[in-house]
Amino acid sequence: MDVLFEPLRFRNLTVKNRFFRSNVSGRFDNYDGSGNQARINWELKFARGGVGAIISSFVPVTLRGRIIPGYATIDNDARIPFWRELGQQVHEYDCKFILQLSHSGRQRDIGGVDQLGVALSSTDKPEPLHGFPCERMTKQDIQETVQAFAQGARRAREAGLDGVELHGANGYLITQFLSSGINDRDDEYGGPLQNRARFVREIVRAIRQEVGNDFHLQMKISATDYNNGLLPWEKPGNTVRESVQVCRWLEEDGVDAIHVSTGSSFPHPKNPAGDFPVVDLSGTYDSMISSGRNTLRNELIFLTWPFSQLFRWWWVKNRGKRIEGLNLPDAREIKRAVNVPVICTGGFQTASVIRRAITRGYCDAVSMARPLIANNDLVKHFEAGRDRAPRPCTYCNKCLVNVIENPLGCYEESRFDSREAMIRQVMSVFDPPPFREPSTQESVAHAISDVS
Ligand SMILES: Cc1cc2nc3c(=O)[nH]c(=O)nc-3n(C[C@H](O)[C@H](O)[C@H](O)COP(=O)(O)O)c2cc1C
Ligand code: SF4
Repeated sequence: MDVLFEPLRFRNLTVKNRFFRSNVSGRFDNYDGSGNQARINWELKFARGGVGAIISSFVPVTLRGRIIPGYATIDNDARIPFWRELGQQVHEYDCKFILQLSHSGRQRDIGGVDQLGVALSSTDKPEPLHGFPCERMTKQDIQETVQAFAQGARRAREAGLDGVELHGANGYLITQFLSSGINDRDDEYGGPLQNRARFVREIVRAIRQEVGNDFHLQMKISATDYNNGLLPWEKPGNTVRESVQVCRWLEEDGVDAIHVSTGSSFPHPKNPAGDFPVVDLSGTYDSMISSGRNTLRNELIFLTWPFSQLFRWWWVKNRGKRIEGLNLPDAREIKRAVNVPVICTGGFQTASVIRRAITRGYCDAVSMARPLIANNDLVKHFEAGRDRAPRPCTYCNKCLVNVIENPLGCYEESRFDSREAMIRQVMSVFDPPPFREPSTQESVAHAISDVS
């Protein structure tokens, strides 16, 4: 049997193949953090397309830990029925659903009227690129946040989902503790690696205490920080050797899998690795101008030639040449050190590349984000024996920069027959709608029957 379609067995979960839909956040939900039909429609596209499991988008465990309004949260028990409904519908396609327990820390794009308080972080230094402000967490903040993660896991379990993932990657709160480039504390949560790892280890133990040992729990980690990958005056941050040690500790504490990512911010030149579409970005970044100290400056750079092109050049230079499988060397280091399965993210969309990565022992499975946004049915193409989809993802990153204002979807016009076809694909997430409005014909028929 082709290794790509062999089931993957974790301690508490079996997934039918080696393809995971990686986390992709889009503003589909209601302003208050309740979920809606559009998110269900979105996730079903991938369940139908054949992935073995969907790892959800960023799901905040507290309102203060939200990136943007309009992402479904898991911050209170009233959210459980929505996630239960979503999980049940995804299960109909023999697809598992793992919820990503998340907290923004200082990396918060757009606040909301109900997002009370300045962002929390391991530090009180603003996030350097956009200048998002934050305050240093007290021990009480830390304890409350640890409990919020544990309660999020309990809610996911009560909703009948298949597991949870800690968002310990890409510069969000857990990375802000783990990273030597960001964490500047001088208490027991800062300094040496074992102190910086204390926060996430406390979360894992609190989750295990809350949900027991028989519920799937995985950790997404930025194996290498490249914290100076864009701004060279920043400290470099964690190396893969440090992350290997963190993964060993997490395995001891009860984590069932590691999901390997990269970069101590999001986005980062290496994540999602691709182009930097300044024209598209300048049209959406304006929504963030009031969020950070440097956001107005950044918008002016994105709007002005040649600064915009210089920024793009610098971004792509720091990305490096490799896109597909760029995290495989880090994944291999981690896989050699732990006994739990390792999932690798980053550019995967070619069956032969994925097959080689698994058979050569770099990872046990891959997670895919943009390639599946471009081709929701990519796994079906692989099943049919194709090595790639006929119109693959170009890694243009237009989906990423549109997401601040527009529905998530593929915005690469060259992949479609027309602009109209592209917009139809983007808007298809609203089909079926939450309430079906009657067609004109139906309204007329109704009016006639009322009169008669
Ligand atoms: C639009 C978009 C939204 C994303 N949202 C999240 C997220 O909520 N949580 C997360 O861990 N990663 C997120 N990512 C990162 C992806 O999960 C993935 O790890 C990364 O894009 C690299 O994989 P790819 O090359 O297959 O896209 C997002 C990526 C994109 C493009
Ligand atoms: S817009 Fe489409 S082609 Fe471009 S990176 Fe996103 S999914 Fe890929």
